[in-house]
Amino acid sequence: ADPDPLQDFCVADLNATFSVNGYPCKPISQTTSEDFFFDGLSKEGNTSTIFGASVTSGNVQSFPGLNTLGISMNRVDFAPGGLNPPHSHPRATEAGVIIQGKLLVGFVTTDNVFHSKVLTAGQMFVIPRGLVHFQLNVGVGKALAFTAFNSHLPGVVLQAPTLFASTPPIPNQVLTKAFQVGDDVINNIKSKFGA
Ligand code: GLV
Ligand code: MN
Repeated sequence: ADPDPLQDFCVADLNATFSVNGYPCKPISQTTSEDFFFDGLSKEGNTSTIFGASVTSGNVQSFPGLNTLGISMNRVDFAPGGLNPPHSHPRATEAGVIIQGKLLVGFVTTDNVFHSKVLTAGQMFVIPRGLVHFQLNVGVGKALAFTAFNSHLPGVVLQAPTLFASTPPIPNQVLTKAFQVGDDVINNIKSKFGA
């Protein structure tokens, strides 16, 4: 979904001012082979979170060699029962492959149709750009997946914190009406997300 590159590469100068979802290039004379390799996805993420899952990003901000190339990857680790909670990527379609374990992968279309399937090692999925999706570990042990995106910085909108933990908070008047529940329910959810 990113624009086509205008040169072979443009290793990001992360210290330069961030502008329009891209970084200026570091000088070619300072570019080395190391700029095109990244070992940040080699280690298991910390899944001791409330969701029991961990997303490690290999995007332009962690792997500057991806700058302007329109592609990036994540590593997603799951404890047993772990959930990568409902979220969407405004700037990329996502493709994924399961490496270990058993994941329920699902997304919802703009017509409110829920598509899902349980996948095991070697199986792939695709999440169309911008649609809300999740992965849940439904196996007995840990699970591991790698995902790929057609953007060097796909962006992530996590639906629960977006609505219940924004700064400043969305007024309860909006959320009680939107979800057709009382203040008690909204306050309870807000409290779970540290608001
Ligand atoms: C999984 O949904 C991911 O965004 O890596
Ligand atoms: Mn995703």
